[in-house]
Amino acid sequence: SPSDPDLVARARAAKEALGDRVFVLGHHYQRDEVIEFADVTGDSFKLARDAAARPEAEFIVFCGVHFMAESADILTTDAQQVVLPDLAAGCSMADMATAEQVAECWDVLTEAGVAGTTVPVSYMNSSADIKAFTGRHGGTICTSSNARRALEWAFEQGEKVLFLPDQHLGRNTAVRDMGMTPEDCVVYNPHKPGGGLTTQQLRDARMILWRGHCSVHGRFSLESVREVRERIPGVNVLVHPECKHEVVAAADHVGSTEHIIRTLEEAPAGSKWAIGTELNLVRRLALRYAAQDKEVVFLDRTVCFCSTMNRIDLPHLVWALESLAAGRVVNRIQVDPETERYARAALERMLALP
Ligand code: 13P
Ligand code: SF4
Repeated sequence: SPSDPDLVARARAAKEALGDRVFVLGHHYQRDEVIEFADVTGDSFKLARDAAARPEAEFIVFCGVHFMAESADILTTDAQQVVLPDLAAGCSMADMATAEQVAECWDVLTEAGVAGTTVPVSYMNSSADIKAFTGRHGGTICTSSNARRALEWAFEQGEKVLFLPDQHLGRNTAVRDMGMTPEDCVVYNPHKPGGGLTTQQLRDARMILWRGHCSVHGRFSLESVREVRERIPGVNVLVHPECKHEVVAAADHVGSTEHIIRTLEEAPAGSKWAIGTELNLVRRLALRYAAQDKEVVFLDRTVCFCSTMNRIDLPHLVWALESLAAGRVVNRIQVDPETERYARAALERMLALP
């Protein structure tokens, strides 16, 4: 639906008043009405780099979710202030690994005698606390666009990887991209004593996967892949690696949001695509590529938007921009210095991956 013209005008005026003092970042899963005001759009890897590359901007308005704003704060200078237009824009996956649970897990690995040879690799979609844990234990952060390189690096440092919090990205990367078997992976359940694993299982495993998942991507099913292939003969199925392993195994292509966009950009006219990722992005891509005679459909019409990404809407963005223009910094996301130090080490390790 078209945006309220009054709000559009107010967003424009506030941005103009702020000029170069503000830099607005928009994740690909954001609403159209918000993307319209983003100075740059990207997946979480690209946005982390873009935030770090703007030291002159006094304010970074992050249109995305909480862990992304934290990462931006960690990677920007102390003088820069990061603003999240709605503090309720969290991520259910990031919430599945708390600092206490992960500390307990490390104790379990220590008791099993495997902590010394285990390297933590944490998905960007995690809190600053988890990133700091990762940095403290010599690990790295990864995103969906560099998970394979991160794992290859980790296996040069140690024998095992503790991958958190997305079990699907961990399993898909290990099995699909690196030739491991599903049996090389075990799942650590933070709600069970000892993670629900025996000492022997921990010793035999190469990948210890945290029991977390994305509540949006986790809903695509093997059935949705079968159904779309029947409905659209010749369709190419392209999914995000946060989808379940069986979905990824049945798909034709797998990749991060930036990879999905690049694949469609390079696809020939007349080709047909079913995309398994967040709906705001798929809708925009369907519209953009319809003009180039490429048919783009959503993989499963029963899957809905990421509700927390959608929390950031035009009214919240206008409020944040107008507040900044009036000299009031609202909804600042600020990671404490001790957490920041170790989390930055883990993030910089990722940015330095070949
Ligand atoms: P990417 O931005 O790395 O593709 O991750 C997808 C996602 O779920 C972000 O919340
Ligand atoms: Fe979190 Fe999934 Fe939403 Fe991304 S799409 S913010 S991983 S719940």
